Amino acid sequence: MTQTISINPELLIGRGRDRACYRHPDDPDFCIKVGTKPEKQTRREKRYFLYLLRKGVDMRFIAPYMGDIKTSHGTGALFPLIHDDNGEVSLTLTQTIKANQIDRGTLNRKLDQLYRYLVDNHICTRDVSPNNIMVRRRAGQIDFILIDGVSRPNLNPLSIRLPALAKRSVDKCWVSLMQKVNKLTTATVVPLHAA
Ligand SMILES: Nc1ncnc2c1ncn2[C@@H]1O[C@H](COP(=O)(O)OP(=O)(O)O)[C@@H](O)[C@H]1O
Ligand SMILES: [Mg+2]
Repeated sequence: MTQTISINPELLIGRGRDRACYRHPDDPDFCIKVGTKPEKQTRREKRYFLYLLRKGVDMRFIAPYMGDIKTSHGTGALFPLIHDDNGEVSLTLTQTIKANQIDRGTLNRKLDQLYRYLVDNHICTRDVSPNNIMVRRRAGQIDFILIDGVSRPNLNPLSIRLPALAKRSVDKCWVSLMQKVNKLTTATVVPLHAA
């Protein structure tokens, strides 16, 4: 019999539009996402992750779905918890910019790196916002990890196999991502050089 994981409010890391994300009570390397809305989109996302896993796609800069888990709040989805090397949950890009913890050069370079990674690996995305990127700091290095928004853009089965369509989905996301990032940086004074 599978065990039911007991979730309590103290474990809450953050809430998005559709899901609440909790620390796994027994394992510091995992988090559990519980839906607050109907699961249609999530099902599509899960299937897409399983497809990427089967294809052996490089998962370096995305947090892959790792299966379902029974919780006191209903069925949850298991993901690796993105944390810094001090054990703290990493900040989202929104929190990082607001807290003035990144310089403009690093911000541009890391966004560029994430963009190239997604396009080179033909990974489709939708809705990539600064709330869906974690800024992970390990061994003096910063990496941007996409924790939400890896998804097939539509129901066309061809769209996950055609590199041009994957690029198109990422390009579309990047326009609105950059608008959001620029809005955040103009509202905050982001230093030009190392923070
Ligand atoms: N893998 C993760 N590691 C650490 N924190 C996470 C992770 N996934 C989500 N979070 C936190 O939880 C919030 C909501 O999760 P998210 O998956 O974006 O939900 P939604 O699909 O509703 O937008 C994020 O903005 C982030 O703060
Ligand atoms: Mg989100």
